[in-house]
Amino acid sequence: MKKWFLILAAVVNLSLPSCDTSQAPVGLYDLLCEGQEDPLGIDRLQPELQWKIKDSRRGAAQTAFQLLVASSPALLSGDQGDLWDSGKVESSRSVHVPYQGAPLASGQQLFWKVRVWDQEGKPSAWSETASWEMGLLEPADWKGSWVSRGTDTPCRSAFMRKEVELGDQQIAKARLFVTGLGSYLFYINGNKVGNDLLTPGWTDFRKRVEYQVYDVTDMLKEGANALGAELGSMWWSGGLGWQGGSRYSEGPLQLMAQLEVTLEDGSMTRFVTDTTWKWHDSPVVYDHIYHGETYDYNLELPGWNEPGFDDAGWQTALPASYGGLLSAPRFPALREQMEITPIALTEPLPGEYVFDLGQNMVGWARLMAQVPKGDTLTLRYAELLHDDGTVAQENLRSAKVTDRIISNGESFVWEPRFTYHGFRYVQVSGLKEKPELTALVGKVIHTSEPFIGSFETSDKLVNAIYKNITWGQRGNFFTVPTDCPQRDERLGWMGDAQIFAPTANFNMQLNRFWSKWMTDIADGQDSSGFVCDVNPAIVVGGPSKPGWGDACVIIPWMTWRYFGDTRIIEDNYAVMKKWVDYMHKQSQELIYIWGEKGGWNGYGDWIAVEPTPSEPIGTAYFAYSAALLSRMAGILGNSTDSLHYAELSAQVAAAYQSRYWDQDSLKYPGGTQTSNLLPLAFGITPAGLRDQVVTNLVENIKAKEYHPTTGFLGTGYILPVLSETGNHDIAWRLINQTTYPSWGYMVEKGATSIWELWNSDSERPEGMNSRNHFALGCVGEWMWNTLAGVNLCDKEPGFKRVIIKPRPVGDLQWVKAQYDTNYGILAVNWKREGERLKLSLTIPPNTSAVIIPPTLKAGAVLKEKGKNAGAAEIEGITPGENGSFTALAGSYELILE
Ligand code: BGC
Repeated sequence: MKKWFLILAAVVNLSLPSCDTSQAPVGLYDLLCEGQEDPLGIDRLQPELQWKIKDSRRGAAQTAFQLLVASSPALLSGDQGDLWDSGKVESSRSVHVPYQGAPLASGQQLFWKVRVWDQEGKPSAWSETASWEMGLLEPADWKGSWVSRGTDTPCRSAFMRKEVELGDQQIAKARLFVTGLGSYLFYINGNKVGNDLLTPGWTDFRKRVEYQVYDVTDMLKEGANALGAELGSMWWSGGLGWQGGSRYSEGPLQLMAQLEVTLEDGSMTRFVTDTTWKWHDSPVVYDHIYHGETYDYNLELPGWNEPGFDDAGWQTALPASYGGLLSAPRFPALREQMEITPIALTEPLPGEYVFDLGQNMVGWARLMAQVPKGDTLTLRYAELLHDDGTVAQENLRSAKVTDRIISNGESFVWEPRFTYHGFRYVQVSGLKEKPELTALVGKVIHTSEPFIGSFETSDKLVNAIYKNITWGQRGNFFTVPTDCPQRDERLGWMGDAQIFAPTANFNMQLNRFWSKWMTDIADGQDSSGFVCDVNPAIVVGGPSKPGWGDACVIIPWMTWRYFGDTRIIEDNYAVMKKWVDYMHKQSQELIYIWGEKGGWNGYGDWIAVEPTPSEPIGTAYFAYSAALLSRMAGILGNSTDSLHYAELSAQVAAAYQSRYWDQDSLKYPGGTQTSNLLPLAFGITPAGLRDQVVTNLVENIKAKEYHPTTGFLGTGYILPVLSETGNHDIAWRLINQTTYPSWGYMVEKGATSIWELWNSDSERPEGMNSRNHFALGCVGEWMWNTLAGVNLCDKEPGFKRVIIKPRPVGDLQWVKAQYDTNYGILAVNWKREGERLKLSLTIPPNTSAVIIPPTLKAGAVLKEKGKNAGAAEIEGITPGENGSFTALAGSYELILE
């Protein structure tokens, strides 16, 4: 795949003019390496670089670039790329550009800059300098050993400490490489290192744990320095799943750290974890991912992580071991993203205070209080209230979701360290008097990848649904995409993730997030080829069910479409192929049935109001996954596989059709919405029968009085299929529906995120009924595609080209959508003015758009300041086929009239 680069580099003239007389008015910004600004701990040997272009001219584009990568900022400022000088590369590529220079070594620091040539062939000035640093690439680079508190009370939280001496030389640079099994907080001289939370996150610990790298230069000082860590269980040893029994380890908790300090004279001193470290019980007397944390202020050891602390009574750390891989940080860390102040405080029972955050959120509470020494404060978290106003925890099943604070009599500001909760209400018991409303604050925590999409319409209900979708995503894009954040699951369920991925990608920059999760999926894959239902694989064994396992194919595909990432396909090609081949091997006459025929055939169209027979879903997804694999083989240039899987997919589709289509009734089994939607969406239904199947679908919807009755799988397709098949008005009726079942029903009933069930309000108060479950929020994709009209173009993925096709409908008056692509801001704003439509567009530099205007009235013309697009009078716009237009980069104020 990197061949393009070598060929281009070879054909262009590598000797460049030393000075350019005229420069393009172009600014370069957002220089990223592996999707991050100046990252540390990179383990890719050809890290990918990208930059954005600031250029407001119409038609702004990059026609060539030059990258310089140097071993020092000084060399780079002299325009010398001693590690790599790409020369002038004639290419418009500005994203996922692989480093092609000298081989990279552990800990190596690299500085880089870029310049580009514009559409007129003029070069820009050089960008600012950016950098990246390599991680520890070899196991032998780790010089210390894992240490633990020993095995007596295996999973109790502990402190670990060690004092180190740095002499009196100036410190030029210091890096901390650190990880833990389970979770750790690291301190230097009493200060917490970094602002990441719950590190090292969650991976398949049987195979790997990620380490983190921090620049700690400014945290160290001459002379004595104290290194300290606090350990908790989290995903490693707490116990996962509804039976609580699944854990990677019984403990003990372990720490691995390596501090590398480069002094002014260039010498390097290294401090590592070993048996010279000491440990002591921490004040966290209990911690559990589901059940919460108990913190005893009476056990605090003031100054424990500062120099000069007397640790004579502490015990010697014991050597520990870990058989998995120490893997560089790939996952976007968890960080605090916002604080929520309660909207109400009640006292439903004497001394029981209930804070209402007004929002179903994920993270934890920070509490400020003071009670007598020895008193315990209890914080119970919940999504709901009982009728009497106390918190209702029945739907959390076995998860206790309760934090406890034991007071030492002093006032405190407390938050937990090794747990997290999904909640709206917190009931605090044990206070002596009514607290202030502001005594408690909700800390919202999620993956640190930014929200890059914003979407608003003139329709209040659509906005409310969209807002709930973003909250469903916020709390469940934790270190993996979890089904829910509150009960005894919080697992990386594959079906939920794959159906929501397109919507998720419109909301957040998830390239790194998905790449890391694909590693978890790969780690859990069985040698026979099956993948597991949840990943990191734990709790539920394989083989994964139809529509769930297929996430291993759908996620790379969606990541390529939205972010233009080909490497995720390369990295996971074998995983996808093994999964499709597995289904092929298990199938009989190309019919893939999970489980026994006539028995239980998987989760089916999970939680559907009108259940769809689940047997055919296996073969439907087999055809779909094979088709996507064929496309991806083609992207990698593997034409043999591409052909093979295209043929396989077509044959599977034919087998599906002959097995499941009833020639007499002209129906698929069950005749439900989903039974029609999957074969339509996956291209299984032959062209000649599509109209019939669409009619079946629409009839079903009418019979249900314009309500969706789909489960997780069908919900992803119901509105897209309706809109694509001439039934956009019906799709609009469904999104505007406010009676059960519908998205609007959830809003009407006060939901502040997306529910697990269409009727979460009335169904099983105890048991499986989450109020924060993103899957049914997959309708967000349709909002972007049709209401805003932002569509992907698979010929030029990752928004190199966008298809803008707004579909005004019903009484929708306007839509404002903005999306921060890898090339810059894409904005689509439209507004109806009678039969006219105002369309304001911003197409990012170095990209283009296909505009497909809606038909509001016959003969309408697209104009800008009186100039006619159809007559090619508008700068940057050329008329295309079937009433479409191609627009170059730039901002446009268009009117369709
Ligand atoms: C989870 C779902 C998941 C499902 C599998 C549930 O318990 O919460 O979201 O996909 O199991 O059917």
